[in-house]
Amino acid sequence: MSVVPTTIAPEVEAAVAGFMLTQAQMTEVVDRMTKEIKMGLAKDTHPRAVIKCFVSYVQDLPTGKERGKYLALDLGGSNFRVLLVDLKSNTDIDIVSKSFVIASSMLSGPGKDLFDFIANCLADFCKEQRLQGEAIPLGFTFSFPLQQQGLTKGILVTWTKGFSCEGVVGKNVVALLQEAIERRGDLKINIVAILNDTVGTLMSCAFTSRNCRIGLIVGTGSNACYVEKTVNAECFENYQTSPKPHMIINAEWGAFGDNGVLDFVRTPYDRIVDKVTPNPGKQTFEKCISGMYMGELVRLVLVDLMAKGLIFAGERSEKIQTQWNFQTSYLSDIESDSPGDFRNCSKVISQLGLVGNHVRDKLHLRYICEAVSSRSAKLCSCGLVTLINKMNINDVSVGIDGSVYRFHPRYHDLLMFHMTKLLRPGIKFELLESDDGSGKGAALIAATAVQNQAPK
Ligand code: GLC
Repeated sequence: MSVVPTTIAPEVEAAVAGFMLTQAQMTEVVDRMTKEIKMGLAKDTHPRAVIKCFVSYVQDLPTGKERGKYLALDLGGSNFRVLLVDLKSNTDIDIVSKSFVIASSMLSGPGKDLFDFIANCLADFCKEQRLQGEAIPLGFTFSFPLQQQGLTKGILVTWTKGFSCEGVVGKNVVALLQEAIERRGDLKINIVAILNDTVGTLMSCAFTSRNCRIGLIVGTGSNACYVEKTVNAECFENYQTSPKPHMIINAEWGAFGDNGVLDFVRTPYDRIVDKVTPNPGKQTFEKCISGMYMGELVRLVLVDLMAKGLIFAGERSEKIQTQWNFQTSYLSDIESDSPGDFRNCSKVISQLGLVGNHVRDKLHLRYICEAVSSRSAKLCSCGLVTLINKMNINDVSVGIDGSVYRFHPRYHDLLMFHMTKLLRPGIKFELLESDDGSGKGAALIAATAVQNQAPK
C-alpha cells in the first residue's frame, strides 16, 4: 500500500512563507487602511489619497417597496451584460439577461468602439425583448473608479482589471454612452444612474436584509463600498447641508498600497505580477486579492520551484511557462478535492501539460494554492473589519458577489474566521451572497432615481 505523504518540504514552505500573514501583520494592515480611508474622505487630503472613497450619490437604501421594469447594463469584467429587471415584489424579481463577450482587442482599442459595441448590444437586446420605443429607465453598472459629479455624471479616473481603451479616462462615461446611443439613432433610452458594482451589490442585499451596510466584490477585481455619515463625505458638495443622513461611499480599496504602505506584506511574486500588468504600480491591494491575479501568483511560484527542481522534477511544459495560463478557477477546483484525494488536482496538472506522477507534487501544488487564497481572504477580512470599525456599528450584514467568493470552497469560512479574530468581541456580522447585485442593484437605484425626479 502506498502511503500518501502529508508533510510539506521545507523549501516549498519557504517559497510561500511570504503569503502566510500573521495576526500582527493583519492588525497593522487594518490600522494603515483606516488612515488611508480617512484621507480619501477628507476634502484636503483627498487629492493625494490612494483609497479615493468616491461619493456615489446614492443616499437612500432600498425601502423594499421599489417596483417596476428597468434596464441595466453591467460592464466591469470580460463579459458585458444587458438586463431587464422587473421588480414585482421584494421576493419576486424577474430578470432576463444577455451576456456578450468583449473581444480582447476591444479592451485596449479606441473607447468609441467599446461604447458603440455597448450600444449595439443594448439595441440587440431591446429588439429581442420588443422594447423599442419604450423609454425604460436604465441603470449603468460601470465597475471602474469614477469621480462622480451626480447620479448621471461620472468621470473615469483610471482603467483597472486589464482594460485600457483610449479616450475614456477623464471623460464623462454617461455622455460617451449617450453619444453612442445617439449615433445609432434608433433607441429611446433614459439613463437615470451610473453606479459601481459594489454599490449594486449593497443595494440588492439591502433590499431584503435591513442590516446590510457593506457591498463587497471579490471577482476579477476587488473593491467595497459602505454606508458613511453624509457629514463625513466631505467631497460631496452638500455634505454639511444635505437632509439625508447617509452617503454610500465607493472606497476603491483596490488601490490601497499604491503608495508603498503594503510593501511589508508583499512577496517577490507580487512584484513580478505587477510588472506584467497594463497598470504597473497601481491596484496593489487588488493584485494581492482578486481573481485576475491569483492564478498567475500560483503559476509564478510553480515556475520558480520547477526551475529549482523542487516540484514536477524532470518535467517540462510550455503551458506552465506561459503568462496567465494558470486560471484562478484552478485554485477553487484544486481546493475542492477532499484531503488526500487529488482528482481535480490531477486534472489541472494534465491541463497544464504536466504528468505529475508523484503525490508529493500534488500535495505541494495544493499547498501553494491554499497559501495564495488564504492570503486573499485574510486581506479581504482586514478591509471589511476596517469598514465595520469605521462605521462603528455592532451588528452588520455584508453583501458579497464575485467569482472568487462564489466558487472558492473555503473563502466564506476563511472570511468568517479571520474577521472574528480581528473584530472587537461582541460585534455581530453576517456575510450574504448577493444574487446578481449588478443587475438588481442597478434597477433599485434607477427606481429611486425615477422617484426622486418625479414632481412631488
Ligand atoms: C476594480 C474596479 C472597481 C470594481 C472592482 C470589482 O477594482 O476599479 O471599481 O468595483 O474592480 O469589480
